[in-house]
Amino acid sequence: VIDIRKLYGQTGMFTYDPGFTSTASCSSKITFIDGDEGILLHRGYSIEELAKNSTFLETAYLILNGELPTREELDKFVKGVTYHTMIHEQIQFLFRGFRRDAHPMAVMIGVVGALSAFYYEDLDTDDPYHRMIATYRLIAKIPTIAAMCYKYAMGQPFVYPRNDLDYASNFLHMMFAVPCEPYHVNPVLARALDRIFILHADHEQNASTSTVRLVGSTGASPYAAVAAGIAALWGPAHGGANEAVVKMLEEIGSPERIPAYIEKVKDKESGVRLMGFGHRVYKNYDPRAGVLKESADEVLAMLGQKNNPKLAIAKELERIALNDEYFIQRKLFPNVDFYSGIILEAMGIPTMMFTAIFALARTVGWMAQWNEMITDPEQKIGRPRQLYTGAPRRSYVPIDRRG
Ligand code: ACO
Repeated sequence: VIDIRKLYGQTGMFTYDPGFTSTASCSSKITFIDGDEGILLHRGYSIEELAKNSTFLETAYLILNGELPTREELDKFVKGVTYHTMIHEQIQFLFRGFRRDAHPMAVMIGVVGALSAFYYEDLDTDDPYHRMIATYRLIAKIPTIAAMCYKYAMGQPFVYPRNDLDYASNFLHMMFAVPCEPYHVNPVLARALDRIFILHADHEQNASTSTVRLVGSTGASPYAAVAAGIAALWGPAHGGANEAVVKMLEEIGSPERIPAYIEKVKDKESGVRLMGFGHRVYKNYDPRAGVLKESADEVLAMLGQKNNPKLAIAKELERIALNDEYFIQRKLFPNVDFYSGIILEAMGIPTMMFTAIFALARTVGWMAQWNEMITDPEQKIGRPRQLYTGAPRRSYVPIDRRG
């Protein structure tokens, strides 16, 4: 706590907490994390139980509404989301303004932000109806937009959503169906992808969620707030890490080269970090990484890739790191991004889409947190203070008397 009265005559007390390591910006009933014990609960239910027993849309309902739905409530919710899967035809023209090789996250920031121009009425964030419709629209349209990003990059025609399919199957259909041949969604892959969605659905006040809350606190359109969340998620220190993990495993290339890579990571001069390792809150195994490690074994065995070289390198890397003093001392464990990329790659999803898939799933958390923030009577516009360390007050010097 700093007495800022000592600084240039300002008044008041505040905490100086760079990176918000110990400052709560809000109260929330949605997600609980015990970083020391490696516990993650959504509305009181453990992530392990949800990943095992629930579906993504059921978990979405829980995260948004606070309780698990009855059969009737779930049917209504699924129908509500499914109704909104199409995007406005005009949005196709937006895609054409992007380079084909643009990163899907760059395109998603633009296209999701542009939804504010198509659904201007949802700017009325005081109206519960508009908040609900905006929530349905975002959860329903984001898989369509993400799949369109992929199709656009591939130079293939966009594939319309199929509302007879479940959420994950429909996404796989929009990604991989082509007009010239039939495409059948593999139900095991769809279930594995659905589980990946569940594991990424919410994670309390991380950088992207805090961004959504901050933007939303100004009364901005929810589409603009979520576009800002996508931008925050893109960074390699946040959601972009899943892509970076696969690149790192490719760079390592074989288990024998792991010790040399670990030495490079430990050398601070190298600036290299072990991607998919470490977490601001978890100082223990990220429970999501535990579920994904098991899922990686299942999915790869099912695909006949039991000896997948990247999985072998990842497991050996984890074993070596968890026995190394550098990682033990700093409490660095695998996080959610460590195994997810290996599963997605084995499913045929290209690396460039990994963070887009994270964004797709996290949209549920962003909208739950946005709704909670908007309806919280104590919520004010997000406005952090700063510790001013610049020049004291001084008089203007005309240009010909300077230097
Ligand atoms: N590899 C090597 N060293 C690391 C790593 C890592 N992945 N992560 C942290 N460290 C070291 C730091 O160098 C630092 O060492 P020091 O005390 O000797 O200076 C110490 O551990 C603490 O690190 P901080 O950067 O202070 O930890 P912070 O909580 O700010 O960072 C973060 C958390 C950004 C996730 C970090 O661990 C990291 O960069 N990990 C790699 C990227 C990654 O996997 N991100 C995904 C996170 S999960 C998610 O966003 C969905």
